Amino acid sequence: MSKCKLGIIGLGHMGEAILNGILNNNYLLSNEIGLYTLEENTLYFYNEKGCLIFKNEFELCNNCEIVLIAIKPQGIDDLTSKIKTCKMECIVSILAGVSIDYYHNNYTCSVIRIMPNLPLQIGLGASAISHDIKVSEKHLNTIVNLFKQLGVVHIIDESLMNEIITVNGSTPAYVYYFIETMINDAVSRGINEKVAKDLLIQTFIGSATMLKQSNKSIQEEIDAVCSKGGTTIEAINTLKEKKLNEIIHLANTNCINKAKTIGK
Ligand SMILES: NC(=O)c1ccc[n+]([C@@H]2O[C@H](COP(=O)([O-])OP(=O)(O)OC[C@H]3O[C@@H](n4cnc5c(N)ncnc54)[C@H](OP(=O)(O)O)[C@@H]3O)[C@@H](O)[C@H]2O)c1
Repeated sequence: MSKCKLGIIGLGHMGEAILNGILNNNYLLSNEIGLYTLEENTLYFYNEKGCLIFKNEFELCNNCEIVLIAIKPQGIDDLTSKIKTCKMECIVSILAGVSIDYYHNNYTCSVIRIMPNLPLQIGLGASAISHDIKVSEKHLNTIVNLFKQLGVVHIIDESLMNEIITVNGSTPAYVYYFIETMINDAVSRGINEKVAKDLLIQTFIGSATMLKQSNKSIQEEIDAVCSKGGTTIEAINTLKEKKLNEIIHLANTNCINKAKTIGK
């Protein structure tokens, strides 16, 4: 039997989002994908869609060319003890904090490290990729093109893979929290929750799309909303006086430090 092109270990939030992205885009045929996760119902569901299901991590790694690891970082030592002797050619790791060196210390295959984010499940992801020098052009192209199908991709230096978590990996949660806070404030002022949610989400989509398409700087776009003597400048000045930048810096520092603590 020829090997599967791609195996995925761990079908939680991110593993399943990546898998669905691949299947929805027909990037690989379902029978070119091997899967293993702890939840049997999930395996059954994707078996019905034509994916190959393996009975454990060891079997998957011996039968897949590229293995994408999508479990929590805390589980990597246990997984490594099961698969370190396997014959995969390339490991793709999306685990926060786990370095390429960790894999080189335990495996002989090449390594690609990715920090994706969850909007990739609707084709609007943002992924940062780093890799070792061992990786073949074929494997790197396969993975880079896969993630390009799911959104924007940037290749970055591995030394910044923990810092980048605060730029794309964790950031959807920041955005959701900000929107939720804005909705709660609107509701406290008597605005209907559904109306507030709809207007705020559309405002985020519209503002982000404008920024993406604009030739102007971000400051110019801010200035275009903040007319002199108007209302918006009062809000922006308040955010500055209350030092939103310092709050964000602290939040990012704590996020990055956690990656370093759980990482390897
Ligand atoms: N979620 C995000 O937005 C995001 C963004 C960027 C990067 N990441 C990275 O993506 C990875 C996965 O995150 P997640 O949010 O998808 O976590 P998750 O929802 O907990 O998914 C992990 C999945 O792997 C399964 N699993 C654990 N050990 C396994 C093993 N040995 N073999 C097969 N399956 C196993 C888990 O099963 P059980 O639940 O039964 O343990 C779970 O279904 C993390 O390392 C994280 O750093 C996540």
